[in-house]
Amino acid sequence: GRVLVLAGGLSHERDVSLRSGRRVADALRSVGVEVEQRDVDASLVERLRNDPPDAVFPVLHGVTGEDGALRQVLDLYGVPYVGADAAACRTAFDKPVASTMVRSAGLRSPESVVLGHDTFRELGAAALMEAVVGQLGLPLVVKPARGGSALGASIVRTIDELPSAMVNCYAYGPVALIERYVEGTEVAVTVVDTGDGPWALPAVEIQPDSGFYDYEARYTAGATQFVVPARLDAAVAAACAQAAVTAHRALGLRDLSRSDLVVDAQGVPWFLEVNVAPGMTETSLVPLAAEAAGIELGVLCRDLLATAAA
Ligand code: DAL
Ligand code: MG
Repeated sequence: GRVLVLAGGLSHERDVSLRSGRRVADALRSVGVEVEQRDVDASLVERLRNDPPDAVFPVLHGVTGEDGALRQVLDLYGVPYVGADAAACRTAFDKPVASTMVRSAGLRSPESVVLGHDTFRELGAAALMEAVVGQLGLPLVVKPARGGSALGASIVRTIDELPSAMVNCYAYGPVALIERYVEGTEVAVTVVDTGDGPWALPAVEIQPDSGFYDYEARYTAGATQFVVPARLDAAVAAACAQAAVTAHRALGLRDLSRSDLVVDAQGVPWFLEVNVAPGMTETSLVPLAAEAAGIELGVLCRDLLATAAA
C-alpha cells in the first residue's frame, strides 16, 4: 500500500520536520515500503479527498503537527495515521496541561508559573519578575507553553535575565511556562506501542557541550554527546522507563512518544514534556534509542504503520 510521510508545515520547527520526514521516508524505503513524502499545505485536503493514501506517517513538529490540527483533518477523511489522536495531541502538546495530568498520575514535574503575554505587559516586567522569582526561586527555565526544539526557551540564572527571556519566549507564542530549574541528568525515553502495550526503549542521556540543549545543540552534528543507554543505576533506569510509560498512558497517547526527563541527584525522574511527533533527524533521540535497542529504524516505522492501519 501507499504511505504518505507528512513533514514541513509552517511551524517554527519546519526545517527540523523536513529533515525528520526525509529520514523516516528513507528508512521506510530501505525496508521496501512504498513512500511518498510531501510538505503540508492547503492542497493536502484535496489530495486526501481525491487520492487518499493507505496510511499517513505524520512527522510534522510543533503547531499544527503536534497540537492535533493535522490529525483532525486526517480523521475527517478517515485516513489511518501513526501516533496519538487529535484530542490526545492537543493535551500533550500543551506543556502546562500535560504536566498537570502526569502529576495526577504520580510523576513529579517542576513547580511552575504560566503567564500570558497580556498579563506580562499589564503588570510590567519588574513587578512580575519579583513575584515569579519570589515564588519559584532561581535558576528558572522559560519556554513557550506550546512549542518545541527549545525555540524560545532560556535558562535564567539571575533576576535581571528574566525579562528578556520572557520577551524572547513570547516571540514564539502568547503563553510562557516558567519552571524551577531541576539540576540533574537530562534523559529522553522513547515509548513504543505496536500492539502489545507501551514499553520503553533505552534512555538516551543528553550531554550538550554548551551545557544547554538548545536548538543549535540539538541539530548541529557533534554539538551534543549522547550516551545510550544512559549511565543510570538499574533502579533509576527502570524508574525513567516507568515514568515515560506512565506519561504515555496518562495522556492517552498511541504508537510512539518521547518523554523528556531530568534525573535529580537522588535518582528521581522529573517530567519536563512529551513529544507526540518526536524528532527523527540524524541527531535526534528516537533513532538513537532504536539503534541501541537493536531495532532498525525502518522496521520500527513499518511496524508503527502496520499498527496504525490495523
Ligand atoms: N520537538 C523536536 C522535534 C523533538 O522533540 O525532537
Ligand atoms: Mg519537545
